[in-house]
Amino acid sequence: MKRVPDAVEIAPGTHWIGALDPGLREFDIILKTANGTTYNSYCVRGTNGVAVIDTVKASHAEEFFARLEQVARYDEISTIVLNHLEPDHSGALPELMRRAPQAKLYISAKAQLMLKALVKSDDLQFNIVKTGDSIDLGGRTLRFFSTPFLHWPDTQCTLIEEQNILFSGDVFGCHFCDGRLFNDQVGDFRFSFEYYYQHIMRPFREHVLEALELLEPLPLQLIAPAHGPILREAPLSYMQRYRQLASPLLHNEVGAHNKSLLVFYISSYGNTARMAQAVVEGAESIQGVRVSLYDLQAGGDLPFVDLIEEADGLAFGSPTINGDAVKPVWDLLSSLAMIKVSDKLGAAFGSYGWSGEAINMIEDRLRGLKLRVPIKGVRARLIPTEEELENCRDLGKQLAQHLTGKIEKRVISMSELLAQEPTHA
Ligand code: FEO
Repeated sequence: MKRVPDAVEIAPGTHWIGALDPGLREFDIILKTANGTTYNSYCVRGTNGVAVIDTVKASHAEEFFARLEQVARYDEISTIVLNHLEPDHSGALPELMRRAPQAKLYISAKAQLMLKALVKSDDLQFNIVKTGDSIDLGGRTLRFFSTPFLHWPDTQCTLIEEQNILFSGDVFGCHFCDGRLFNDQVGDFRFSFEYYYQHIMRPFREHVLEALELLEPLPLQLIAPAHGPILREAPLSYMQRYRQLASPLLHNEVGAHNKSLLVFYISSYGNTARMAQAVVEGAESIQGVRVSLYDLQAGGDLPFVDLIEEADGLAFGSPTINGDAVKPVWDLLSSLAMIKVSDKLGAAFGSYGWSGEAINMIEDRLRGLKLRVPIKGVRARLIPTEEELENCRDLGKQLAQHLTGKIEKRVISMSELLAQEPTHA
C-alpha cells in the first residue's frame, strides 16, 4: 500500500484531509500542471458534530479516507458540505455517504441537477443552502456564501465564523502540488495562481467581482482553497490580487463613455487591408466610438485578448484561402474562450479569390461565442471596387451606430437580400 502522509491541522479543530496528485501534467485537457495538483478536503470538529468540506477525485479516495480516519470516526460525521460538484471534488462523495449514512449533505441550489447526474440516484437526500445560511457544529459555525459561476453555476464558499477560515472551493486556488501545504512553506507558486485565474476564473470576472463584494468585508485569517497551497500568510493579498485581475485592464483615454470598436485584419495582397481601412473610416464617421485597427500578422494573441476583453465591438477581416479563414484569425478566435465576449458586437469582412467562405465561417464562430452579429459581412473578389469599399464603410458605420444606439432604420427588400447572397465561383 502506498504511503499516506498524515492529516494536517490547519487551525484548532480543523484538518486538511485532501490528496496529493504530483504526477498530473494536464488538468481537464486545457490546463498544464507542471507541479501536479492537490485535491483539498477539510474536516472541521465542533462540540456537536464533525463536518467534511469537499472530497477528492475518485482516483485519490484512498488517501482521503485514510486521512479522514486519522481525525474522525465515520459515525461522528454529521455534515458534508460540497462547495462545488466537479468530479475532482465530488469523486469520493458517494463512498463517503455510504460510510457516514447519517451525515447531512449541504449544497447550493444550482448543484442539485449536477449531484443527480453524478450520483445517478433520485433518492439522495440533501439540503440547499445560500448566502446567510449557517450550520452550528458546536463552537464552530459554518456560514455559506453563494458565489455562482466561479467557475461552475453551483459554486459556493463556506466560512468558519469563529475562526474566520474560508473554504473557498476553486476560488483562490491553483494547480500546485507541494506536500508542505501552506503558502509560506511551499515553493514559489505565483505562476500557477495567475495561470489558474486566467484560465478558470477570467471568463467569469463579473461574477468574481460580485463574489469579492461578499468576501472582502470578512476579516479572514486563512483561506483554504480546493486546490494548491493553503493561504495562511497574508490571505487578503490573494483576494486583492483577484480584485486587480478582475478589474478592467485599460483606461479608455478618449472618453469614459465612448464605445470601443476593434478592427482586426490580415491581408495577403493588401485587399483585405483596404477593406479594413474602409470599415474604420465608416465607424469613425459616428461620434462616441473609439476605433482601433490591428494587423493580425504583427500582433500577439494575448495582448489582443486583453484588448478584446475591454472592447464593445469586434470586426475581423480575413482573406479566404483554400476555403477557410487564415490561421492567425482562428488562433485569436480560439483564444477568446478565456474571456467573456458574449453580447459584444461582431462582424466579418474580407477579400477572396475563388469562393469566399471565410466571412460566413467567422460570423458563425462569433455567433458560437454568443456575440451579436446583426450586420451581414462584406466580401470582395480580389481587389475591392469602390462600391465594395463603400459597403465596408457602411459596415463600419452600422457597427458604430449599433454601439452608440444610433441605428438608422432600414427597409431591406427581398431583391436586396438576394443580391447579398455569396457568389461561389
Ligand atoms: Fe477543482 Fe472546478 O474543480
